[in-house]
Amino acid sequence: MRLAVVLLCALVAVQVALLAAPAEGGELVVGYYDNKCRGVENVVKWHVRRALKTNRRAGAALVRLLFHDCFVRGCDASVLLDASPQNPNPEKDAPVNIGLAAFDLLEEIKAAVEHRCPGVVSCSDILIYAARDAASALSNGNIHFDVPAGRLDGLVSSAAEAQAELPDSTFTVQQLIDNFARKDFDVEELVILSGAHSIGVGHCSSFTGRLTAPPEQINPAYRNLLNHKCHQGANPAVVNNVRDEDYETVARFMPGFTSRVRKISDVLDNTFYHNNLARIVSFNSDWQLMTHTEARGHVHEYADNATLWDGDFAESLLKLSKLSMPAGSKGGIRKKCSIASHPLH
Ligand code: HEM
Ligand SMILES: *[C@@H]1O[C@H](CO)[C@@H](O)[C@H](O)[C@H]1NC(C)=O
Repeated sequence: MRLAVVLLCALVAVQVALLAAPAEGGELVVGYYDNKCRGVENVVKWHVRRALKTNRRAGAALVRLLFHDCFVRGCDASVLLDASPQNPNPEKDAPVNIGLAAFDLLEEIKAAVEHRCPGVVSCSDILIYAARDAASALSNGNIHFDVPAGRLDGLVSSAAEAQAELPDSTFTVQQLIDNFARKDFDVEELVILSGAHSIGVGHCSSFTGRLTAPPEQINPAYRNLLNHKCHQGANPAVVNNVRDEDYETVARFMPGFTSRVRKISDVLDNTFYHNNLARIVSFNSDWQLMTHTEARGHVHEYADNATLWDGDFAESLLKLSKLSMPAGSKGGIRKKCSIASHPLH
């Protein structure tokens, strides 16, 4: 009997610890781990930089992960959870999450951090640190910001919820605006954040409609290039930015663009806006921005001023990183980012 009471109290204590979530908004602080896990940000940065030396695309994956995590239940690493018998359909399985990557890299970083300070640093904070470091590395340091931390890892991850919350590449501009407004992001921020499509890749299934779109919507030479690429396999991935394309393909389909081809891929800068003005973007959602007066104005603005975009993109990523879990959500610190290991839920 007495033992049962003690156990009950212990359980309540654990519950309280889990509920005391600084993740409930407004309480994230820069340097949160200074006294709890000194040097953790350097550990994350070291691993990100090492990974990007051999695979810059992993950096693009990290930047996208920040968006896809934070737009669904806030930044709680819910996007990192694998399917399990208790939860057969996690966010990862949502069609809108096609192509998500860098899960192994995050797990590698988490293991290194656990080794240094077990049970202290959340996967959600590691994800934001890593995405910030990737954005910084891919932009040659032009995009930089301090990350307030203290997030907890969530227990809930639902494919249906991810599908309902995240924007789809077939959306009209109004659907995009409404989708971002629900998270308190305005038209300008929609345009700023879409600039992330200067890096990374997309699967052909993410832009099927564009393969037959009329010349007012897509540069016909670029459309032919995309069609060529998409016939090279079963739903292959194609680079988002034509300057990351292989030289021979660009020379064949868009000879006027060969001077844009770069040796170093995935440079995070304002070229998305130049590409959009030239109608050489792959996703319908990106082109849609050009059909809205205010959005189009911002496309011109950011095409004209690279420095302005660097600063505003950093600010918008930071705002994304502050989206918090729904009120009352329980959280904890996972042992592995892919498994919800906390005892209660
Ligand atoms: C505005 C609405 C958005 C839509 C409809 C959208 C849609 C997409 C789609 C369909 C892909 C390709 C997925 C695939 O087929 O593999 C993609 C890739 C990507 N998106 Fe977005 N996206 C949006 C906003 C954003 C935002 C806000 C960010 C980050 C700030 C972002 C960052 C990325 C990155 C970096 C990639 C490349 C990922 C990689 O190469 O691994 N996107 N997006
Ligand atoms: C571009 O934006 C930066 C940062 O806001 C600003 O300082 C600069 O004056 C702008 N340049 C031009 C040419 O407008």
